[in-house]
Amino acid sequence: MAKKVWYSGEEIAAWPRRDGIEERTHIHFHFVPPRPADLCVTLDPVTGEVNAMAGTVGPLTWSPYTICLHVHRVASDDSYRNLIANRECVIAFPTKEQIRETWVLNMSLPRGIDELEVARLTAIPSKVVAAPSIEECPVNLECKVEFWKDYYTHGIFFCKVVGGSVDEEMLSWPRERVMNHYPTYEVDDTTNEWGGRVERLGVLGELYDTPLFPVGAKEGWWAGGIETWIAQMEEEGHLSGEEARKMSDWQIAFESLFEELDSPERAEARGKLTRACELIAWEEWEGLREHLRGD
Ligand SMILES: Cc1cc2nc3c(=O)[nH]c(=O)nc-3n(C[C@H](O)[C@H](O)[C@H](O)COP(=O)(O)O)c2cc1C
Repeated sequence: MAKKVWYSGEEIAAWPRRDGIEERTHIHFHFVPPRPADLCVTLDPVTGEVNAMAGTVGPLTWSPYTICLHVHRVASDDSYRNLIANRECVIAFPTKEQIRETWVLNMSLPRGIDELEVARLTAIPSKVVAAPSIEECPVNLECKVEFWKDYYTHGIFFCKVVGGSVDEEMLSWPRERVMNHYPTYEVDDTTNEWGGRVERLGVLGELYDTPLFPVGAKEGWWAGGIETWIAQMEEEGHLSGEEARKMSDWQIAFESLFEELDSPERAEARGKLTRACELIAWEEWEGLREHLRGD
């Protein structure tokens, strides 16, 4: 088994250390996976002037399409204020040709200075929100803030995507080409000669297929419960009627004894069901037949 090095949550947040590794940033990024970079455009509620910050975005729900922003209450105070006051923004995705532009939107400029101008990016009207979109970005999502909450150092903003535009020319690009172009991801940090943090961005390089049914869903995006799964495997000839019944019996036995943690019957049903699921997950059909034949 691989030897594990354990750090507490506090150690991870404070950038983990290890004897023999001098670079302060060398371990931290293992614990913090890449997150998609965005340019968040808002309007000042008092002056109406444009503000833009570089941020990272996380998914919330797919239907409706909602996403979440985490905005530092001090370091990103302009965006924080504008999002609370106006409850809307544009989330634009920059490309790998726009690393400097992205970084410029990280600069701490005075309230009222339009970072898009400083970054040589062009504000264009959005369709359904007042904050502008960015012409040079291939994708602009127009968002309404539906809910927000202060959480430790940040404001967390739950945003509903109410519309979005994409550069037409990219619609015909192969997907790998798109993914190698944008979005960029905040990936890791190094340090500069004064000990300051230098952030690095990256893009995706390769696409991998995941296994198909019965390891993935047969229809739609969700496989449903185990009953549906077993029925579908029978329908598609992966299980005979008898085999499907046997698997269902194990499931029913396990479920009916779920709270009886000391029951040997529970342990047996759980073990048999786990093994059946494992053999299906690895598509080892001969082994599955044999397992389902046993008592
Ligand atoms: C790629 C990238 C991602 C960033 N992500 C965030 C983020 O998610 N939240 C945040 O508060 N700041 C983030 N920052 C830093 C902000 O861009 C920075 O604090 C900015 O000056 C805030 O601008 P504002 O004060 O105009 O709102 C990020 C910077 C970069 C370069």
